[in-house]
Amino acid sequence: MSVIFQTLRNKGKTYLFKKIINSTQSTCKCFQFRKSSDTPKKFISFEEVVAQRRAEAKRSIVVQVNSEASFSELYGYCSEYAAINGIHHYKNSAGENFMLIEFKSEEDLKEVLKSCTTHQKDMDVMALNSPFLWFRAAKGPKTKYLQPSIKLASVNGIDKIDEDKLFKELVDCETVSDQIQLLYDRTTLNDLGARLRYMVARQIESVLKSLYANIAVRPFGSSVNGFGKMGCDLDLVLTNIVNEDTCLQAGARLVYQAAGGAGAARHVGAAADALELRAAGAARVTRIPHARVPIVKFAHTYTDLDCDLCYNNMSGVYMSELLWQLGSLDVRVRPLTVLVRAWARAARLTQPHPGRWITNFPLTLMVLFFLQQKTSDGFVLPTLKNLVKRAGTEDIRVAEDNLNCTFLRDMNKLPADCYGQSTASLQTLLLQFFEFYSQFNFQDKAISINEGAPVRKPNSLPLYIINPLEQALNVSRNVSFEECERLITEVRNAAWQLDAGLDRQKGEDWGILALLEQRSTRGLKKLLRVGNSHRLVSVKDLFNDSDTRVPQDTLKSKLERLAPKTDKEVEQTVVQMKEQLGKEKEKKVQRLKFKNTSIASEVFRIRRDKIV
Ligand code: CTP
Ligand code: MG
Repeated sequence: MSVIFQTLRNKGKTYLFKKIINSTQSTCKCFQFRKSSDTPKKFISFEEVVAQRRAEAKRSIVVQVNSEASFSELYGYCSEYAAINGIHHYKNSAGENFMLIEFKSEEDLKEVLKSCTTHQKDMDVMALNSPFLWFRAAKGPKTKYLQPSIKLASVNGIDKIDEDKLFKELVDCETVSDQIQLLYDRTTLNDLGARLRYMVARQIESVLKSLYANIAVRPFGSSVNGFGKMGCDLDLVLTNIVNEDTCLQAGARLVYQAAGGAGAARHVGAAADALELRAAGAARVTRIPHARVPIVKFAHTYTDLDCDLCYNNMSGVYMSELLWQLGSLDVRVRPLTVLVRAWARAARLTQPHPGRWITNFPLTLMVLFFLQQKTSDGFVLPTLKNLVKRAGTEDIRVAEDNLNCTFLRDMNKLPADCYGQSTASLQTLLLQFFEFYSQFNFQDKAISINEGAPVRKPNSLPLYIINPLEQALNVSRNVSFEECERLITEVRNAAWQLDAGLDRQKGEDWGILALLEQRSTRGLKKLLRVGNSHRLVSVKDLFNDSDTRVPQDTLKSKLERLAPKTDKEVEQTVVQMKEQLGKEKEKKVQRLKFKNTSIASEVFRIRRDKIV
């Protein structure tokens, strides 16, 4: 989670944002959108969704209860003070029960909070003003409350997915496309997951409001960009919600004095102190003040969220907006991306901690870039250049360091022939994705969603994915030569596996199931039984240094190859692969013919049997 502390440069967006948030309850744009009398819009904007979520959080509380059975009593108690919209139940990993209650309005919520009390016996405990409360057992005879007129909106609403059940459902799917869709439907961040993320943002915002004026704390990253899964981390940014335009338009003349000399690192320290003292549920607060973007990390125990809070990173929010918009343009974008992220996790290409490997964000850009390519029946997504070209004055956004983040925000204005041209199924797109990157010239070319076409690499870094909002930067500059090679090998393996699997009979490893097996831990059942017995390896990749795809030896790449590997598993895998290849040299070498001949030539592979 990251907090942004923005200077007064932002044009337009924050003004609109503030207007939406300040408008009373149901008059905000998103609710107008929901009215049945309105002409339905094809696309809702990111700002509308954010405004709706923030408004929801402002009229909600999270109450710790004894169990799911506390619902009737809690409903009865609260509805004596205010009208209730809905109640969701969940448990955290410590087995504690909570109910998120959404009231009809912010005013309703205020009425309820007036009734809140504090710990009476323990005078050392200071009650914290926050939307996280607990429901005390009643003293004396039980009060008879009104019976709930609604049902719980969810029970155990953020529980981990039952892998066995999911596995069975995936086995039973009719097509690979159905499998991809099912995986997306079952694992994507749900409504309660999103609500809780905005609740934490609201809580942190109210804590930091005691330090700063005119601020907002906003979620960004996978919590809001449409590609998040249940349990994903929460990235938060502390932003200034006032901009020059707002001040000037309002004719504001009284201006807050500011403290001089406090850089981002000091603000991060202050925020960390405030969280430790004043944020109920915040634990393991860790300051990382000297990173390029200073952050505070903490665990939020009531919601089971790992959070990163940063300052001055509005570009991260605009990036999330861009990803969200592209994901909303076509129904295939999010399921395909979620599958690719899951495959990369299973193949250990991505890891839970940062390092010399690719992460979900650049991987997502790779999927979007692929979807911009023209296949036989057209492309799926427009280029960012196209969205920039169509932007109006209402779309102007400037982030920190005068970074221009202007692009078309209202996708309803995008002509229909600019997207969704390809009619390919998810199954075809997935295969084409792996084939495309099996053949991609990583040595010379960079990936740019701005252009939608490969561009010349400005340096010899193994993987070059241009930051769409700051084109001089490579978002995958951390990726080492070995990790890039591993990515290419795994992409080729996946293309082979998927292609070969399509003709095979449906079994426990059919379709995407083979792609989702994890390397050393049990993922979806089969791993414990046979390991990765049918994973494939490219002979060419392992032994042929003259492979045109392998970057020429630079001093850096030589050093990287000589350097001791940190990832033990990679080392073991390479040793195993070499041993196996020794034994298998005489065995059948399979020649794979990709279906899409326009982008794929032939790749020689050897079957790597029985390697665990
Ligand atoms: N970001 C960015 N530039 C980068 C890295 C990240 O703008 N070089 C922004 C993106 O908006 C990204 C967000 O920061 O989505 C959070 O980054 P990260 O947590 O690494 O990625 P997520 O998309 O949140 O994916 P994950 O689920 O792995 O957290
Ligand atoms: Mg994240």
